[in-house]
Amino acid sequence: MKRNILVTGGAGFIGSHLVRLLVNKYPDYRIVNLDKLTYAGNLTNLEDVADRANYVFEKADICDIDEMMQIMQRYEIDGVIHLAAESHVDRSITDPFTFARTNVMGTLSLLHAAKTYWESRPEGYEGKLFYHISTDEVYGALELTNPEGIDSPFTTAASSCGHKAYGREFFVETTKYNPHSPYSASKASSDHFVRAYHDTYGMPTIVTNCSNNYGPYQFPEKLIPLFINNIRHHRPLPVYGEGMNVRDWLYVEDHVRAIDLIFHKGKVAETYNIGGFNEWKNIDIVKTIIRITDRLLGNPKGYSDELITYVTDRAGHDLRYAIDSRKLQSELGWEPSLQFEEGIERTVKWYLENQDWVDRITSGEYIKYYESMYGNR
Ligand code: NAD
Ligand code: DAU
Repeated sequence: MKRNILVTGGAGFIGSHLVRLLVNKYPDYRIVNLDKLTYAGNLTNLEDVADRANYVFEKADICDIDEMMQIMQRYEIDGVIHLAAESHVDRSITDPFTFARTNVMGTLSLLHAAKTYWESRPEGYEGKLFYHISTDEVYGALELTNPEGIDSPFTTAASSCGHKAYGREFFVETTKYNPHSPYSASKASSDHFVRAYHDTYGMPTIVTNCSNNYGPYQFPEKLIPLFINNIRHHRPLPVYGEGMNVRDWLYVEDHVRAIDLIFHKGKVAETYNIGGFNEWKNIDIVKTIIRITDRLLGNPKGYSDELITYVTDRAGHDLRYAIDSRKLQSELGWEPSLQFEEGIERTVKWYLENQDWVDRITSGEYIKYYESMYGNR
């Protein structure tokens, strides 16, 4: 069946992996990638699919409701997968208004454009879906009751090699929202708007809440790519607080595989948690990155250990995130496919082999390049 799918934020980290998967897997679909190309959006992430007949790029701001309306009509969009957002917690602490504008008002503009367009069609909401990509951070923080780790109660093929949990509680789909950062507060608000559009207007919606992603094309302000790049330049590795915060890491390709499955098979009005069953303390992640990066760079063992620098903690720093994604596992048969050791090795290799990409992004050169190509609307 032919479909016209609008992916917002498709030039960002997760969005670019999703667009690549959809363009390659569904030659009959038209994939419209809508992105404002903020500092975090980069079309070189998609050079391998840019010329495909089933791919279109639109430079636009999700807050521009008239333009959202025109794009819905122009491409006769029947499915929206909404990823566009300001995504970095540290930036939200210094600039909360930008997060409210994009994540809350932008999502509302997009919802309203979809509603207006779909309600104008003779078939109405039949065959339509607004799928909103959210985060586990909306649930707040879990306690870290077992700092040494306990055997995880979950088993998956990818996590069978003795992974740990750092507490007995996990986020489930019914966990009460309790966001702490301006970023997570803005994502929580956007989630509520999406559900309100279902409950009030009958719009078919789905929300998923995912844990920390890692992999190629992540902007090097986030922990893993930042630290790989700093090791390459022998710069300090700023570990917040004591490095005891726990995150649940998922390889980005496993996330977009889940998004594809949920978009096609998920139940309307449902929420699905997506996670890696893969908890790590930050300091252990940092030591793992150092070990792999030093080996791949040919440095002596322990060469970069001295770069670890404990710095003032992030304000409102959530202690532990851990996702229970058994609903998705049992209802739709998804689970992570990649063991963390393999995923992180693949990731470090990618950043070391793609230093031009990292250098362009960190110098801001690509922004000027793309403004010269697409203008600065
Ligand atoms: P990212 O920052 O790498 O990419 C965001 C993209 O959105 C960029 O291409 C940017 O140009 C675009 N964008 C920003 N503002 C826009 C606007 N006003 N109009 C149009 N485009 C705009 O983010 P990411 O890490 O790929 O995250 C994508 C989504 O997934 C976000 O909604 C985020 O909250 C969510 N998420 C991320 C993670 C993670 O670990 N990275 C985990 C769970 C959920
Ligand atoms: O949980 C999902 C979320 O994961 C997504 O919704 C966000 O968009 C994404 O950015 C990510 O948020 P985090 O704040 O967890 O990711 P970040 O990479 O910024 O930080 C990971 C952990 O590492 C966190 O505990 C803070 C710590 N950290 C981070 C940086 C950048 C450091 O100790 N030092 C650093 O320099």
